[in-house]
Amino acid sequence: MGIEKASPEAIERAAAALAAGRLIAFPTETVYGLGADASNARAVAAVFAAKDRPRFNPLIVHVPDLAAAAALAEFSDSARQLAAAFWPGALSLVLPRRTGSAIAELATAGLNTIAVRVPAHATALALLRAAGRPIAAPSANRSGHVSPTTAEHVAADLGERVCMVLDDGPTPLGLESTVVDVSGPSPSVLRLGGVARAALADALGRPVPVAAAATSRPASPGMLLRHYAPATPLRLEAGAVETGEALLAFGAALPPHTGPVFNLSARGDLLEAAANLFAGLRRLDGAGAAGIAVMPIPEEGLGEAINDRLRRAARPA
Ligand code: TXA
Ligand code: MG
Repeated sequence: MGIEKASPEAIERAAAALAAGRLIAFPTETVYGLGADASNARAVAAVFAAKDRPRFNPLIVHVPDLAAAAALAEFSDSARQLAAAFWPGALSLVLPRRTGSAIAELATAGLNTIAVRVPAHATALALLRAAGRPIAAPSANRSGHVSPTTAEHVAADLGERVCMVLDDGPTPLGLESTVVDVSGPSPSVLRLGGVARAALADALGRPVPVAAAATSRPASPGMLLRHYAPATPLRLEAGAVETGEALLAFGAALPPHTGPVFNLSARGDLLEAAANLFAGLRRLDGAGAAGIAVMPIPEEGLGEAINDRLRRAARPA
């Protein structure tokens, strides 16, 4: 890991590292982000590992302009008004995700929506242009720690877990972006942040309420979210596969099975398993099986977040 002044040359190297699947911390006008190529599922899995996040929350996908955002998400009239008023800026828009975009399922935690943002920061924009690809980036801190507003905060918190920290001094706002859900007919605020609710109301000509779940002090930000849930029932910690079941496998030693199978990682690699999780669930959910038997996943490292997600998916809606 190295802190590097955000020179054009350092930005080029950071862009190349991102393209190679590495993690880069970079400044935005809100807080420093821990960036990964949003189309690279393994790189996105590495972001969750670096943060020690016990669950897979969807990440904000950063793009250099509205055109790049429109390639990933469907903009309603309200969404266009908000983008026109606040981008580049501290506003993340949650929108219906375009089918067929290259964004990794893990970046959106398997949801049919995607959060996108155009940051108002010269270094962030230069990095996005140099990378030529959308960058998924949560705040560059370990889970449960405060968001970093300087390169030194990032280095102290993440150390060797990040390959490079682009340093452009303290972030101007020091507060995360406001997250607005514009995926349905009436916009609502999922997270308060750098853009005030009154400013959103001015831009739209009507008040924008805080989403109900956001006001009731949920135990974790993840609880604000609808979660991807397969329609096919899941059976966890399965030692054997029953007739009619598909198999979500992990590791090399598979129980006897006749139906569809998706192996999260034949090598038993949790990073690879995390990268494949949502794609695997979707694949087997669409395979027409009566149920999905899920092999045990070790409760360590990224296994904790994988199991958290599997337990939610196994719970009846
Ligand atoms: O200012 C910021 O937003 C910073 C900088 C780096 O851009 N990023 C940041 O990311 O704070 P993170 O991962 O710490 O917070 C992302 C927030 C979470 O509350 C997450 O639940 C929400 O955005 N979010 C992301 N995608 C979503 C989606 N599809 N639906 C609902 N909420 C979503
Ligand atoms: Mg955060």
